[in-house]
Amino acid sequence: MTVDVMTRPAVLILLGPPGAGKGTQARMLQEKFGLVQLSTGDLLRAAVKAGTPAGKQAKAVMDAGGLVSDEIVIAILNDRMSEEDCRNGVILDGFPRTTVQAKALDDMLRSTGQRINAAISLRVDDGAMVERISGRSTCAGCGEGYHDTFKPPLADGSCAKCGSTELTRRADDRAETVASRLEAYHAQTAPLIAYYDAAGVLTSVDAMAAIDKVAGDMARVVGSVMS
Ligand code: AP5
Repeated sequence: MTVDVMTRPAVLILLGPPGAGKGTQARMLQEKFGLVQLSTGDLLRAAVKAGTPAGKQAKAVMDAGGLVSDEIVIAILNDRMSEEDCRNGVILDGFPRTTVQAKALDDMLRSTGQRINAAISLRVDDGAMVERISGRSTCAGCGEGYHDTFKPPLADGSCAKCGSTELTRRADDRAETVASRLEAYHAQTAPLIAYYDAAGVLTSVDAMAAIDKVAGDMARVVGSVMS
């Protein structure tokens, strides 16, 4: 697929450590701007659940808090990006996470005539991560994310969006795994901030603020790069 430059779909990248709020913000941007959230974490968890060969290879790495191989992640992302619903534009949540992935994305977009509108870095203190991650739950019905303190479900414990009472916790949200995930972020993903700065598409948002304040800041950034 190549696209007309006047109508090319937006490509946004959300960069940030585990628990920075990438998923929370991506879901809000998806609703506001009609883009599709592509979370490689969600795609990998679906592959693990389905027991695909890629999922089987990814499971142990994810459980240990490491990064799944570039080869697997790039293949999964490439397949998903070629689906019809991505034609209106995508929010990449958790991809790329290495320089190899960033270069593969550049190649993918070049071949379809697309470009990156913005790479938004969510700035957070490492200290906030454990609290955010250990209080996190996800609705099994619709995928909405919650936090015990910062964004609780309804008083009866159900999802405010779809009414499901089944809220799940992620297998890799244990304190010891979070430390490994943070380590992987600093060693392999944080260098992408300089990569996208050099490409002239980097912008950053203070993600230590309350969820709605961060959402307002993100919406302003996205609104300004969508045209
Ligand atoms: P992935 O699923 O991408 O996890 P992650 O990057 O560790 O990020 P999280 O989903 O934990 O956090 P988030 O930033 O989305 O925060 P959230 O919005 O949920 O990846 C999981 C694993 O898959 C990786 O470890 C790796 O193994 C593998 N993987 C995935 N992509 C890969 C790739 N490209 N290459 C290789 N391997 C890959 O928020 C967290 C909590 O905080 C929530 O409860 C939320 O309600 C709350 N919260 C959010 N914002 C705020 C706020 N402003 N104030 C207070 N609370 C807040």
